[in-house]
Amino acid sequence: MPKKVSISVIGLGKLGLCTAACFASKGFSVIGVDVDIDKIDSVNKGISPVQETGLAELLMRAKGKIKATADYNYAIANSDVSFIVVATPSLADGSFSNEYLEKALHKIAESLRTKKSYHLVVITSTVMPQTTDKVGKFILEKVSGKKCGKDFGLAYNPEFIALGSVLHDFLNPDLVLIGEANIKDGNILEGIYKNTCENKPYFARMSPVNAEITKISLNCYVTTKITFANSLSAICEKIPEADARVVANALGMDSRIGRKYINPGLGYGGPCFPRDNKAFAACAHLVEVQAKLAEMVDQVNNEQVMQLVGKIKSLVSRLKDPVIAFLGLSYKPNTPIIEDSQALSIAKILVHEGYSLKVYDPQAQDNAKGVLGDFVKYSKNTKDCIKNADLIILAVPWREFNNFNPGDTKKNSLILDCWGLLDMKKFKNIKLLGKGEEE
Ligand SMILES: NC(=O)c1ccc[n+]([C@@H]2O[C@H](COP(=O)([O-])OP(=O)(O)OC[C@H]3O[C@@H](n4cnc5c(N)ncnc54)[C@H](O)[C@@H]3O)[C@@H](O)[C@H]2O)c1
Repeated sequence: MPKKVSISVIGLGKLGLCTAACFASKGFSVIGVDVDIDKIDSVNKGISPVQETGLAELLMRAKGKIKATADYNYAIANSDVSFIVVATPSLADGSFSNEYLEKALHKIAESLRTKKSYHLVVITSTVMPQTTDKVGKFILEKVSGKKCGKDFGLAYNPEFIALGSVLHDFLNPDLVLIGEANIKDGNILEGIYKNTCENKPYFARMSPVNAEITKISLNCYVTTKITFANSLSAICEKIPEADARVVANALGMDSRIGRKYINPGLGYGGPCFPRDNKAFAACAHLVEVQAKLAEMVDQVNNEQVMQLVGKIKSLVSRLKDPVIAFLGLSYKPNTPIIEDSQALSIAKILVHEGYSLKVYDPQAQDNAKGVLGDFVKYSKNTKDCIKNADLIILAVPWREFNNFNPGDTKKNSLILDCWGLLDMKKFKNIKLLGKGEEE
């Protein structure tokens, strides 16, 4: 392997394109491979086909440093390490499909047949335990006719990023998880990350199967923590003077628990948490072990939606034809993504039940139009949305949602702050999710 390796990234989607851009920004020569010709053209023009914080600017700066192509032979011949970041969609039983991964592995293996030098293949896509060995190694060896560990290397190296902060998370990870088929491959990967990360992460090096289990366990644990906080919130809400945020804050100061992901609010959603939680349960079932905790977390999380709908309905029950201002539709702040967004699910149910909704989201509005259609009024900003509303719901903790004053709201309007964004002292009629009040 040369001192400064060349990298190819297979799959230029939400994670793959950010991966390519981050490596290019740290001076690596990067070739991006995708099957989508429009994506390839766009990347070669330095224009981001993916909406992600800071990515457009980074790609513009990296113009010429990332070469996008559909040609696997070119990519494998001209790189030393390939990161596979294709989608692994969820199957009905909760496990992940290897359909795209297998196609990518086949193409890489065909190109490896004629390659003389050592090439490291890295699976970054989220996969079920044993995939790297039983699918990755099997296909690569069979199709290339070469030997893993001797002619080519193999590793599993997933990322722990959140959409909306992918670039920051990629460059500043708490840990770099490396599941290595052999030490040499782990060393190559550790070297790449040491030249890429802007912090000093912990390198968790282990076998591929342990890394595969670690990846889905981590997200499953985080969903459990979120759901615990929301259960705590439901209890506190029924006890006068209790405040789940005060309790959660103190809990989080105990180092055994930690402060992150213990904030009462809406349930988790998005393209990763729900499916990784289900994959953990599916993994247990595959080895004939029960996964009651993961399943219950999923169930409790889903129930959050109807609980909140019930709360909203009771808040406006005395009003005739109430107008509801609904702030936030994405599954979390700083992203246009609405996949499994609890905020959007709640808005959809309210609309279905005949409530009059004005909605605003800084990035997800266009995507939400595909779900809410013409049944809601779309606002151009927060102030426009809350104007003349009887109930204002802060459903997603976008920073800009606390950018209004009591004078901007209708007299006697109610506010439901699901995330503790507003200054309670400033507003009169404000309800905080997780805060108990006298009935
Ligand atoms: N997006 C996230 O937040 C996130 C976080 C952690 C892990 N992951 C994992 O990363 C993987 C990719 O996720 P994503 O969100 O970037 O997916 P995505 O759907 O946004 O992108 C996948 C890309 O792969 C391309 N592709 C499909 N088949 C291909 C092939 N044979 N060769 C080359 N390119 C091909 C598609 O055209 C697309 O551009 C998944 O396994 C996912 O679970 C994603």
